[in-house]
Parts: sequence; C-alpha cells; structure tokens
Amino acid sequence: MPALAAFGLDADNVRFGGAPPGSRDVEAVDYLCAMERMRVDGRGVSFAVVEAGGDAILGACDLRLPAPAVGEVGYLLAPAARGRGVMTRALRLVVHWAFAELGLPRVQAFASPENEASLALLRRLGFSREGLLRSYRGPGEDRVALSVLPDELR
Ligand SMILES: CC(C)(COP(=O)(O)OP(=O)(O)OC[C@H]1O[C@@H](n2cnc3c(N)ncnc32)[C@H](O)[C@@H]1OP(=O)(O)O)[C@@H](O)C(=O)NCCC(=O)NCCS
Repeated sequence: MPALAAFGLDADNVRFGGAPPGSRDVEAVDYLCAMERMRVDGRGVSFAVVEAGGDAILGACDLRLPAPAVGEVGYLLAPAARGRGVMTRALRLVVHWAFAELGLPRVQAFASPENEASLALLRRLGFSREGLLRSYRGPGEDRVALSVLPDELR
C-alpha cells in the first residue's frame, strides 16, 4: 500500500499518469477499488509492474477498452524506477497481450506534448503519432494521439 500511495507524491505521475494526488492509504485504496471495478465491469485491467524476482511495486500499466476492439494504455513508474527500460518492457508485454490474447486490432495512447519520456517510450514500441487533441484533458491540456497496430509493435 505505501508504494502505491507514494505514486501520488510525484508531480508527473499526478499530471500525466492519472495518479490521485496525495500519499495517504485512502487515496491508494480508492485507486485500487476503481481499478478492480474497471476489471469486473469488463472496461479494462490494471497490472502492477514489479521488480523481476521480487515483489517491490515499481509502477502500474493499464489496458482500457474505451470502444469495441480498441485498447488504450496508461502507465506510470515510481521516479526511482525510471530510466532503465522497465516500462518499455512492461508496456510491450501488455500491448502484445492485447493483440495476441484479446485479438484487438488497435491500441492507442494519449500523451502530453510536454511528456518527452512517454512519447519516446511509445515511439520505441512502434506507436505512430496521429494528431494533436487540443484541450483534451482541460483548458490548455493538449494530448498527442498515438496508436500501434499488431504488425507494428517493436
Ligand atoms: C512515462 C514513464 C513511465 C517513462 O519512464 P522511463 O523510465 O523513461 O521509461 P522506460 O522504463 O521505458 O525507460 C526508458 C529509459 O531507460 C533507458 N533504457 C535502459 N535500458 C533500456 C532498455 N533495455 N530498453 C529501453 N530503454 C532502456 C532508455 O535509454 C531510456 O532512458 P532515457 O529516458 O534517459 O533515454 C515515466 O517517465 C513516468 O512514470 N512518468 C510519469 C507518468 C506518465 O507520464 N505516464 C504516462 C502518461 S501518457
């Protein structure tokens, strides 16, 4: 629970990653309940990203189903876990699973034009930029729309 709650201490996780601000257990429990409701309702699934061979929680990676046959990914890492390819590997596994096991023809992502780390990660995996959604997350909060198709995943 403390690892999950700590996501809300990082400004980028709150601004870009959808983590609730704050680091109390109550925020972490709310987050877990929302993710479980999403899974039970069939709207998506949220995976914990853990250290290989251990159980330390490094981050989270979600696959949501916003429309029939469309997957949408969202993800965040604890600051100490960044810069070593952890999310490259985790996201590749989740997107591969979406194509191979769920049979989805498309996975999309929305990233702030200011979020270089996220845009670099998506490019590395073969996502293509499709356009800029202006004020998509509130006034002045633009998002770059990107997607990857099954034969494009790297
Ligand atoms: C987006 C976010 C998950 C990216 O984290 P990240 O650490 O840059 O991503 P990765 O784990 O894939 O690591 C890539 C980095 O590891 C390095 N790396 C080391 N070994 C690597 C490997 N085997 N494969 C890929 N990258 C590797 C890369 O060079 C890159 O470093 P750089 O940024 O200095 O060039 C992270 O910045 C984050 O949590 N941000 C806040 C929340 C957020 O923005 N969520 C996304 C909303 S759209």
